[in-house]
Amino acid sequence: MTTAVDHYDRFLAEHYTWMLGGDLPALAAAQRAHLLDWEVVPGPAGTLAVDLGCGPGHTSLALAGLGFDPVYAVDLSRPLLDELATHAGDFPAVRPTRADLRTALPGLVRPGSAAAVVCLGDTLTHLPTRADVAALFADVADALAPGGRAVFAYRDLTDPLTGTDRFLPVRATDDRIMTCFLEYTGDYDDYTVTVHDLMHTRDAATGGWTLDAHSYRKLRLAHTWVTDQARTAGLRPLGEHTAPGGMRTLVLERNTAMR
Ligand SMILES: C[S@@+](CC[C@H](N)C(=O)[O-])C[C@H]1O[C@@H](n2cnc3c(N)ncnc32)[C@H](O)[C@@H]1O
Repeated sequence: MTTAVDHYDRFLAEHYTWMLGGDLPALAAAQRAHLLDWEVVPGPAGTLAVDLGCGPGHTSLALAGLGFDPVYAVDLSRPLLDELATHAGDFPAVRPTRADLRTALPGLVRPGSAAAVVCLGDTLTHLPTRADVAALFADVADALAPGGRAVFAYRDLTDPLTGTDRFLPVRATDDRIMTCFLEYTGDYDDYTVTVHDLMHTRDAATGGWTLDAHSYRKLRLAHTWVTDQARTAGLRPLGEHTAPGGMRTLVLERNTAMR
């Protein structure tokens, strides 16, 4: 089974921004509004921000637009980091950083100095194991300055979809149609779901369609488990939100009473 990172390098990076709507500046503007809702703004906690699993970097651009500096945009996908670099010309604060988000924070941030650490767009479920998720929370708690904010947004895929509900239309335009199929494999402890990305692409010359199918595994993370792990790591929930597509957002700060 392809790892999540290979899946992006071999297939999804090329389509990722298109998948989200295609307009990175517009995505950054929308993300700026979300960051303000979550009170992720520079202030007494400082101006250093980290965007873990930044993808094409719309959140990194939004963080820089709000005045965070530096903004470490961390990802392992070279094509996505290159895409971000082409949009970051007006935002010198953005530092595209090729690193594994499981180990990046201690090398980038002195303990207690990050004003914001975000990990959005379901990146958390891309980690190989739940132990990686727990370890990441500990790194985030170490990195955060008092009064700083951490935000995680991910899908709770613990309730299996059945039948045709497992086919999820993602986006369709004149030349591309993307559908996602979720397969609940019944591995030990219902640990993962296999995600099959099905991309139909239209050849401009012939008008014919080609199907490209690639698969990878995502973690199934229960929201209660995620919240418990965050608390155990020394993070205090400040708020949470569930979006219509099932994306859960958890806003946290460092629990200074535990340090
Ligand atoms: C679903 S995308 C989310 C992108 C962006 N945060 C968003 O909100 O759209 C997940 C991203 O995480 C990256 N990623 C997955 N595992 C990673 C790892 N271990 N280290 C660094 N990046 C990783 C992928 O390359 C991809 O860009």
